[in-house]
Parts: sequence; C-alpha cells; structure tokens
Amino acid sequence: MSIKILLEQRFSCNYFAPGQDLSLAQINELIRLATLAPSAYNGQNWRFIAVHSPKAKQQLQALAYGQEKIGAAAVTIVICGRLDLHTQLADTLASSVSAGILSQELLSTMVHHATEGYHNQPQRQRDEAIRSASLAAMSLMLAAQEFGLASCPMIGFDAEGVSEYLALSNNEIPVMLVTIGQAASNNWPQKPRKPVHEVLSFA
Ligand SMILES: Cc1cc2nc3c(=O)[nH]c(=O)nc-3n(C[C@H](O)[C@H](O)[C@H](O)COP(=O)(O)O)c2cc1C
Repeated sequence: MSIKILLEQRFSCNYFAPGQDLSLAQINELIRLATLAPSAYNGQNWRFIAVHSPKAKQQLQALAYGQEKIGAAAVTIVICGRLDLHTQLADTLASSVSAGILSQELLSTMVHHATEGYHNQPQRQRDEAIRSASLAAMSLMLAAQEFGLASCPMIGFDAEGVSEYLALSNNEIPVMLVTIGQAASNNWPQKPRKPVHEVLSFA
C-alpha cells in the first residue's frame, strides 16, 4: 500500500477482534520496521517490550486504567525511551563505522557533541526520549497497517506502575503503548482533522 493510503486509512482502533494472536516472527518484523524511524544522532534511544502473554496483558490492562483493548488486541508494544543516548552512542554507532558510513573521527566528534548536549540535561534527555519513541510509534503503526492490522497509541497508563512491572531501568521511561491486532467491525473510522489552512503557516 502507498504511504498516502496507509495514512488515510489508519485509525485509532478501540475494539479488537478477540481471540487473535501474532507470531513472534510477525512481532519481530513489526519492530524491525519501527526501528527504521530516525533518531537524533541515530542514537536509537528506544526499547520495545511486547506484552503478549494473557497474564502480562491482564497486568498491563490494569495499569492502563482497565482499557479493554489491551486484553483484546494480539499484542501491546510498550515503547520505552532511553535517557542515556549520549553514553551509549559510541556503541550504538559502531555498526555505522563498520559499514564505512562514519569514520572513527566523525564518530568521536558526534559523541562529543551528544555528550555536550545531553550530559546533566534531564529535560533534554527526556525530550529526546519522547521524540524518538514517538517517531518509532508512528512507524510501528504504519507497519501494522501495511500488514492489515489495526493499532492504537495510548498514554492512558500509570507510568510508574508500568516501569515497576516491566522492571525498566532508571535510564528508561515508558513513552507510549501501541496496541496491535485485527480490528473488530464496530470501530469509528479515522476522525476528521482540522483543515490545513488552520494549522499551516509559511515563514
Ligand atoms: C499521544 C497519544 C495518546 C493517546 N492515548 C490514548 C489512550 O490512552 N486511549 C485511547 O483509547 N486512545 C488514545 N489515543 C488515540 C487518540 O484518541 C486518537 O489518535 C485520536 O482520537 C484520533 O483518532 P484517529 O487516529 O482514529 O483519527 C492517543 C493518541 C495519541 C497520539
């Protein structure tokens, strides 16, 4: 499907057909596609936890104020943002050096700039974690749509409770949940948007 059609057809799914599943290979492929999203310095400051087992879905649903779609969907991906992009960057970019895209010297310069930008800057670290995870979330939803699956992004959850349940480190925050599965037939379609002239200006 073209990206235009994917964007025009995607909707936030509230009702999933019950009793469905996705294979680990399908989940893997969805996450592979999600990680093609861009991130600052290609820092890839994200992590994905696929909540897939009935027991884990039940726990997550309780932590998401009982949102039933978590129990009904095939999987909910907890997209976590990492706050330590700069301390991980040399390792993260090693494959770009091996691929001949970055020189070791350029890598060192990038690590230097990233460290200047994020070291002891909790607000910037958090902003970057949320930006990266949000771009990955959109890529994930479009990938799901391409495979004929519906999705819903969610921030209605107890962040502290989710962090504790999934044993996130102090360097991670749960940014968004994305439920994925086959849609039931009683969903709203994509909702109307403000007209472009209301949201677009030129400078
Ligand atoms: C950051 C974010 C958080 C959201 N949180 C929830 C949520 O907790 N529960 C829910 O049912 N929908 C949630 N949504 C879905 C929105 O309600 C939905 O995207 C919006 O109404 C537009 O619907 P549409 O995408 O079907 O046009 C969220 C969407 C975004 C982008």
